[in-house]
Amino acid sequence: MDWGMKNRLSHIIDPKDGRTLMLAVDHGYFMGPTTGLEKMDQMVNPLLPYADTLMLTRGALRNYVSPHTRIPIVLRVSGGTSIVGPELLREGIIADMEDAIRLNVAGVAFSILVGATFERDTLLPFARVIDQAERYGIPVVAVTAVGKDMGKDARYLGLASRMAAEFGAHIVKTYYCPEFEKVVESCPVPIVIAGGKKQPEKDALQMAYDALQAGAIGVDMGRNIFQSEDPVAMVKAVRAIVHEAATPAEAYQKFQKEKGA
Ligand code: 5RP
Repeated sequence: MDWGMKNRLSHIIDPKDGRTLMLAVDHGYFMGPTTGLEKMDQMVNPLLPYADTLMLTRGALRNYVSPHTRIPIVLRVSGGTSIVGPELLREGIIADMEDAIRLNVAGVAFSILVGATFERDTLLPFARVIDQAERYGIPVVAVTAVGKDMGKDARYLGLASRMAAEFGAHIVKTYYCPEFEKVVESCPVPIVIAGGKKQPEKDALQMAYDALQAGAIGVDMGRNIFQSEDPVAMVKAVRAIVHEAATPAEAYQKFQKEKGA
């Protein structure tokens, strides 16, 4: 691994503790103006001091985020289908590596849909993105997206995560599930979990904690932060779990204390 790749990875994963709190606000690329992100700049700016990286599209980055920010960017480079269309997550490349470099990103993210009839259409461009990213020392986060009819169990997520790593991904984003340690153990690269649909704050904090206990290095969380009744209090509570060894009870206490502050 060359210096540039290592340096960018250390902008995503904190070298002090090997963990990361990635803030995912890329939802607009297939969900449009997602609840909480209608005015993305107003939502995201107050959260930035507590996140290690920001994951979003190039359009959102250019329109909603100041170029003077110091937050490392993970750029979503896959897309092509929408939540209202017939083939959710049949994604291809939507941003060139040259543009990612122009945007000075720390990494790029690409979704694969293992098990779909069109899996090949997502896996082959994923491999091309890794080739291009390797050329310039840019880490690739593989998002093991899960279709509406697919189970989120350790067997399936373990398969998708391992495939992503074998294709060359540097970090895998997947979903938390029972027996999550099996997913982590059989994946040779670091794993972060997605938050998934909004759940009560207490449950989301418990899930983040359980994932870390099972070996995940952090979270790439969106809706459970920006759709929280208090997004800043919630990002601080998630940070306490990821970087401050807080228990779920301590983190929830922090959330309650910070709420409305
Ligand atoms: C889709 C994605 C999302 O765009 C997003 O990053 C997920 O974040 P969350 O589930 O925490 O809202 O990765 O596959």
